[in-house]
Amino acid sequence: MSKLLNKKLSNKKILLGVTGGIAAYKAAEFCRLLIKQGADVRVVMTSAAKEFIQPLTFQALTGNRVYAELFDADAQNAMDHIELARWADLLVIAPATADILAKLADGYTDNLLLTISLATQSKIAVAPAMNQQMYQNQATQKNIQVLQQRGVKVWGPDVGDQACGETGPGRMLEAEHLLQHVEQIMQPGKLNGYKIMITAGPTREAIDPVRFISNRSSGKMGYAVAQAAINAGAEVTLVTGPVCLQSPQPVKLLTCQSADDMYQQVMSHIDGQDIFIGTAAVADYRILNIADEKIKKSADEMDLKLVRTQDILASVAALKDKPFCVGFAAETSELEQYARQKLHNKNLDIIAANRVDGSASGFEVDNNAISVFWEEGSKQLSLKSKNLIATELVDIITEQFISCRN
Ligand code: C5P
Repeated sequence: MSKLLNKKLSNKKILLGVTGGIAAYKAAEFCRLLIKQGADVRVVMTSAAKEFIQPLTFQALTGNRVYAELFDADAQNAMDHIELARWADLLVIAPATADILAKLADGYTDNLLLTISLATQSKIAVAPAMNQQMYQNQATQKNIQVLQQRGVKVWGPDVGDQACGETGPGRMLEAEHLLQHVEQIMQPGKLNGYKIMITAGPTREAIDPVRFISNRSSGKMGYAVAQAAINAGAEVTLVTGPVCLQSPQPVKLLTCQSADDMYQQVMSHIDGQDIFIGTAAVADYRILNIADEKIKKSADEMDLKLVRTQDILASVAALKDKPFCVGFAAETSELEQYARQKLHNKNLDIIAANRVDGSASGFEVDNNAISVFWEEGSKQLSLKSKNLIATELVDIITEQFISCRN
């Protein structure tokens, strides 16, 4: 039993994609090493891969049938592409030919492996293997860049003698080296064992039973931060205003409508949280007297009396047993000055500030660029997808949080 637990990849589900290159023979050794470390391995081969190595080799190594066809009449008891995509903790394509990299970058789905790659939410890694000219070709380099920007890990290639007689970059990494990468990527996250509460989305302040005041927050940034924290191993509680987003998994989801609801939800669950991240665009004002009935239109003008809502983030940061607090600041000018003011006024540990002046970042868009400030430092995160920004932000939060505790 203890021997089993010592294996670095015990309980890890790894989908190995093998494509048609001479390095396909090294994939068999890689597969053997994964299994030796306790991984549950399934193999998907392209038809070109089968020209280089027999599926039987992988079947014998893994003890499982090898998947190759998108539409497989014999596969009654086997997993289909969606099941395989869901099953995997990690998809490694080794070797990854220039062709598969191009098709992955462009989102093609004309074979089983590509379909799985598009359908999976697991991490994806590729181990390029090809002639050195093909590797250095601008088209391949661009495809690799596109994949990296999308979060795909690119392992290798090595530089050296090639099967074609040339020398240069394009050799697939050796199996032992690939195994090291897998072990590293599958390590428990840096936030393992920590609890994080995140607020996200807008709030709605009711005027009457059918009308409300709200703002343009989509919740995308907060949900991306929640997913990044989950990926880093944290136990996440997401307190969310009304949004149209799929919730990250696994998460404890607490839904709310108004700033007051959000305040109540946060305060009744904050005990024991290690980190609090306020990404929600909480309304600053609420309607003093919410009408019980729908307000009928009558006069040309109408006054609504608004009163301040409670500042949730500042209230959490004022707790005696305060968690590590991170805030967001959406500004249209003087970014650093206003952000640092908020850092101090609200007693925060970190503030992430972005411009919301109608540019390519900010509300309702998929990309963001933020500046992160803390007492002794700052870091700029340049324009990229909210998912990538969230991962980088969670890295910074982790670093500062851990150094605070030491
Ligand atoms: O003061 P300002 O609204 O610019 O501060 C933004 C930060 O404070 C965000 O992190 C937001 O989630 C949080 N906040 C809050 N409760 C409020 C207002 C803002 O938690 N009522």
